[in-house]
Amino acid sequence: MRLYGIGALVAGGASGLGEATARALAARGARVTIADLNDERGEALAAELGATFVKTDVTGEGQVQAAVEAAGELRLAVSCAGIGWAERTVKRDGPAALEPFETVVRVNLIGTFNVLRLAAAAMAEGEPDEGGERRPPRRGAPGARRAGAASAAARPPGGVRRAGLPHRREPDAERRDDQAGRRPQNAS
Ligand SMILES: NC(=O)c1ccc[n+]([C@@H]2O[C@H](COP(=O)([O-])OP(=O)(O)OC[C@H]3O[C@@H](n4cnc5c(N)ncnc54)[C@H](O)[C@@H]3O)[C@@H](O)[C@H]2O)c1
Repeated sequence: MRLYGIGALVAGGASGLGEATARALAARGARVTIADLNDERGEALAAELGATFVKTDVTGEGQVQAAVEAAGELRLAVSCAGIGWAERTVKRDGPAALEPFETVVRVNLIGTFNVLRLAAAAMAEGEPDEGGERRPPRRGAPGARRAGAASAAARPPGGVRRAGLPHRREPDAERRDDQAGRRPQNAS
């Protein structure tokens, strides 16, 4: 895929894997928008890369939509925003706390899906590129495996992987339906 000049959104792009992704995309000439909670690091990195920073909580619908709109015409979205939490399911003094697990699921799973769905909707409105493609968004680190974590909460929820799968398949399925003249009557 040609990256030069394309609009690319990197959620969680102020640090770690997202930062590396933002740097790699900017080095290849993409117009990068960093969407992250950490405005200090995000602003500094955006200034260094000539990118745009939008302070964003990936779990917020309006905030992610604002970041997507700030990115202009979008061709690529990578979601690396995430947090980790390691705790045994049963400890000496009782069960693991529920709240940290809920927060991890909210940020890593629901936040990732929120970015994927809003970025994909914006891409679907764009013109296909010269290869006829509107790129589906990519999952970043919250969808990666981490071996040896003490608790499932520290690992990406399997739901992130499952949520990503239909997104990768949807454009292909849509294209096959188009080619076979099988699009549903009510599809636009
Ligand atoms: N680094 C690894 O090797 C690795 C491997 C597997 C999984 N992971 C997971 O991937 C995710 C990212 O890893 P990392 O090493 O890049 O971490 P990191 O802490 O360096 O970067 C995560 C970024 O996400 C941002 N963020 C956190 N919550 C957010 C929210 N609600 N909205 C927007 N931005 C938010 C943070 O501000 C930070 O900039 C984490 O969930 C981590 O557990 C990392």
